[in-house]
Amino acid sequence: MSTALRRTAALVAALLFSALPFAGHVAEAKDGAAPAATPPAASAKPAAYSRKGADTCIACHDDKVSLAVFRTPHGAPKDPRSPFGAGQLQCEACHGPGDAHARHKGKGRPDVIEFGRGANTPVSVQNAQCLTCHNGTANHWAASAHAGSEVSCADCHDSHAAHDPMKRASTQNETCTSCHKVQHTQGLMPFRHPLEEARMACTSCHAPHGSNAPAQLIRATTTETCTTCHAELRGPFAWEHQPVAEDCGNCHNPHGSTNPGMLKARGPFLCQQCHQASGHPSISFGPNNLPGRAGQQQAYVVAGNCLNCHTQVHGSNHPSGSKLMR
Ligand code: HEC
Ligand code: HEC
Ligand code: HEC
Ligand code: HEC
Ligand code: HEC
Ligand code: HEC
Ligand code: HEC
Ligand code: HEC
Ligand code: HEC
Ligand code: HEC
Repeated sequence: MSTALRRTAALVAALLFSALPFAGHVAEAKDGAAPAATPPAASAKPAAYSRKGADTCIACHDDKVSLAVFRTPHGAPKDPRSPFGAGQLQCEACHGPGDAHARHKGKGRPDVIEFGRGANTPVSVQNAQCLTCHNGTANHWAASAHAGSEVSCADCHDSHAAHDPMKRASTQNETCTSCHKVQHTQGLMPFRHPLEEARMACTSCHAPHGSNAPAQLIRATTTETCTTCHAELRGPFAWEHQPVAEDCGNCHNPHGSTNPGMLKARGPFLCQQCHQASGHPSISFGPNNLPGRAGQQQAYVVAGNCLNCHTQVHGSNHPSGSKLMR
């Protein structure tokens, strides 16, 4: 049954697209007609586009994956900029000139441009093919860690899928963490952002195509990125706690932690990473060592967390909040 369906789909597609003007020959003759794909680098003679475009390809590639492209924005004949818009190169807008590939009989069929990990085509050539149309994406792309590490557009995007995995939080997070194992593990810890529930995505904080910020953040600094949502902590506070204004990452791990509040360490150890172990701050555990030497047992101190007293750890607006206690 699915074979019959496929046949029908192929037929519909073939009928549909043979009616459209196809740019194959034109692009061969005139350089740069339409914002169309460039031929692959360094071939001996200029490779030719097939004569009938998609119809040629579909004659052999009538499988589900290939045909699904018609259900994507790329398969929209009404959009003149899309590969299937009038005068565009259809399948070959992405896969490059395929005449020799399509006509070949027997073994040793010449390759067209293939996409993704493990494809024969070098990643830079794959990406250049997408960037012929999506040059807007390129602003930060070229300098990004992904471009530098040979990550391809197709590692994240699925151009034949009706639903691009990047567009949904759940499938996006899955794709990203398929490579980023550390963040995957942290995301499974008990205290974490709601990515697992798809209420947030990696792109809540990261710019997928690169940015000027460290770690491809969506804002210039970690703190600015965090306060896009946690606006109440943006400050300025009358009494600022310096490490908060500096970088929320001083105390929190944005990807998850085994400590409540996604803290990098539990109090008092968290605090004592910075606050000296002499004078009040660290000997505050001893019952007699509070400022003013109260001399009595102090439940707060025995419990041992600086936060019992210094509750306003993100800063205070209270007139006498200088010690972050109110
Ligand atoms: C006569 C049949 C035939 C035609 C026509 C044809 N192909 Fe192919 N194509 C194949 C075969 C067989 C393979 C797989 C074996 C190989 O790579 O040689 C293949 C492989 C491919 C692959 C790689 C698939 C993979 O597994 O990575 C792509 C992409 C592709 N073709 C695209 C096209 C495009 C685009 C066109 C139209 C310009 C086209 N083909 C026309 C037979 C055809
Ligand atoms: C927008 C660019 C684009 C267009 C247009 C396009 N493809 Fe693809 N094609 C890709 C990418 C990217 C992949 C790699 C897999 C993926 O991301 O879906 C791919 C994969 C393939 C494969 C291998 C699929 C597999 O099973 O692994 C074939 C065959 C193929 N395309 C054929 C075609 C044919 C035939 C057409 C025209 C009907 C076409 N493509 C149009 C980008 C495109
Ligand atoms: C011939 C031009 C052309 C080529 C080549 C091309 N695209 Fe597109 N792409 C478009 C157009 C047009 C749209 C629809 C844009 C819009 O609606 O604003 C689009 C949309 C997209 C979208 C958004 C999809 C969505 O569901 O909203 C993604 C992601 C994308 N392209 C990635 C790619 C990748 C990856 C490649 C290379 C494999 C590629 N494109 C090749 C023209 C192209
Ligand atoms: C690290 C994964 C990743 C890589 C690699 C990647 N993208 Fe994207 N891309 C995304 C995400 C995430 C979105 C946002 C989807 C959304 O929220 O709608 C996106 C959106 C897009 C869009 C549609 C929205 C827009 O920005 O206009 C286009 C077009 C696009 N990407 C093209 C590309 C091209 C071309 C490449 C390769 C040069 C590429 N992408 C590489 C993850 C990636
Ligand atoms: C195919 C594997 C792969 C996928 C998928 C992938 N990445 Fe990456 N990513 C890498 C590699 C490789 C690097 C560079 C080496 C490193 O820093 O680990 C990198 C680096 C990064 C960095 C560090 C950037 C910097 O400047 O330090 C961030 C942030 C990042 N990726 C986020 C994402 C997000 C968000 C997604 C999904 C939208 C994603 N990645 C999808 C492989 C991948
Ligand atoms: C709540 C915001 C936020 C979310 C959501 C988020 N990140 Fe991050 N990510 C950050 C911050 C902030 C940094 C920088 C940490 C630092 O200071 O080194 C970072 C750093 C990274 C790095 C670079 C790590 C390094 O050691 O250089 C990678 C890779 C990364 N994130 C991947 C991801 C992936 C994949 C996802 C989705 C599963 C994700 N992040 C979700 C905020 C976030
Ligand atoms: C896109 C919005 C968004 C961004 C950006 C964001 N957060 Fe969150 N944050 C949330 C949401 C949603 C929750 C969960 C609140 C809930 O479950 O009620 C949360 C919860 C938290 C919690 C409490 C976790 C717990 O276990 O109770 C901390 C701590 C936190 N975020 C820190 C950060 C830091 C640090 C950054 C920057 C690296 C950041 N957030 C960026 C939306 C965001
Ligand atoms: C000096 C360490 C430190 C820094 C820096 C820091 N936090 Fe916190 N944060 C904490 C501690 C400790 C808690 C736990 C508070 C508690 O248990 O009452 C916490 C709790 C939170 C919570 C949980 C909800 C709440 O208010 O109880 C959020 C959200 C949060 N921090 C966001 C941020 C953001 C955003 C930044 C950067 C602007 C930041 N934090 C910087 C120490 C810090
Ligand atoms: C990353 C380093 C760092 C961490 C972690 C840290 N602090 Fe601080 N804290 C500072 C700095 C720097 C100042 C400003 C010191 C100054 O002005 O002399 C400060 C100031 C303070 C002050 C006000 C001191 C004064 O004299 O005005 C209090 C109270 C305080 N921190 C408590 C805490 C508590 C409680 C924690 C743990 C939740 C903590 N700090 C974690 C670096 C840190
Ligand atoms: C029982 C309550 C209590 C606990 C617990 C506590 N503090 Fe304090 N802390 C105070 C009081 C009260 C002051 C104000 C002293 C003053 O004004 O002279 C203070 C002052 C400070 C100051 C400013 C020191 C200065 O010289 O002005 C810092 C820094 C500080 N605490 C850090 C910490 C750290 C770190 C911890 C946990 C290891 C901690 N505190 C635990 C009550 C407490």
